[in-house]
Amino acid sequence: MRQVLDEAAKGGYGVGAFNVNNMEQIQAIMEAARETKSPVIVQASRGARAYSNDHFLYHLMLAATEVYPEIPTVLHLDHGNSVETCKSAIEMGFTSVMMDGSLLADGKTPSDFDYNVKVTREVVEMAHAKGVTVEGEIGCLGGIEDGHGAGLDGLSHLTDPQQAVEFVAASGLDALAIAIGTSHGAYKFSSAPTGETLKMSRLIEIHKRLPNTHLVMHGSSSVPKDLQDVINQYGGKLKPTWGVPVEEIQLGIKNGVRKINVDTDNRLAITGAIRKVFAETPEKFDPRDYMKPARDAMKKVVALRMTQFGQAGHAGDYTAIPLAEMAKRYAAK
Ligand code: G3H
Ligand code: 13P
Ligand code: ZN
Repeated sequence: MRQVLDEAAKGGYGVGAFNVNNMEQIQAIMEAARETKSPVIVQASRGARAYSNDHFLYHLMLAATEVYPEIPTVLHLDHGNSVETCKSAIEMGFTSVMMDGSLLADGKTPSDFDYNVKVTREVVEMAHAKGVTVEGEIGCLGGIEDGHGAGLDGLSHLTDPQQAVEFVAASGLDALAIAIGTSHGAYKFSSAPTGETLKMSRLIEIHKRLPNTHLVMHGSSSVPKDLQDVINQYGGKLKPTWGVPVEEIQLGIKNGVRKINVDTDNRLAITGAIRKVFAETPEKFDPRDYMKPARDAMKKVVALRMTQFGQAGHAGDYTAIPLAEMAKRYAAK
């Protein structure tokens, strides 16, 4: 992932990191990548690894690299909660890991700075020895409804810019996730976000102090109204909600954001497509009849984000550096 982010920085674009739990989601991302000629970051949470079993995910990803050899492809661990979790992902073959030391190992309790530095540094040493990239996080995101997070509102633990500088220096990480008011899940903002609720000014301040650090925006689904409407039109019960406008993400990309995490928008697209088939053709019972439209709906969202983030057209710019070579480069630093 380090190479993918370095290239994105050179080209001034962002790269979406999309969560997966199964074959159809991996296929949706890879098809979108081929169509838009994009490098990709595919990420799996602890929940995803437990749901699908690591081995299935890993071998599906190997299949993806065989079927789509022209696409530079990262397999990233999303929100690793401990050194142990990161270690098991590296042993499985993930090429990048997130050590989220902003929370304790329970994935809920905000940690302190020293704990965060200690666990992140430990993962950096272990990962870089194998050429694997490390993302860390300082400050805590809001939201918990999707299973990861402290259950805070998005504004209670914003990233402190000075702490961010110290954290990057002390941990040696490759990419830094920051908290600027976003949350995981569908319910981020109860009205269209303003500068008071989505703190892009904080991001710009952090980028000024860390101009050479790749920044990561979590909780970056836009929660588009049209995707909400499909779900509600076919029997769903989503409450009115707002996500992160794509223009704000694009402003972030102009200010050092290189990785943008998106899961919820794809969940909404999949659910809407399945609900539509069930509502319109209740006689159907072959899973392919609803999994195929679901996969197509996700592919459409991913392809659009790839274009909006600017990664489209960049798949052929470079060939992947093998992990062993990356390990040598890290060792030489
Ligand atoms: O961090 C949140 C991602 O959306 C993954 O969610 O933990 O429910 O798989 P998950
Ligand atoms: P969303 O819930 O906004 O899609 O965020 C996903 C995320 O940050 C995964 O780490
Ligand atoms: Zn996240």
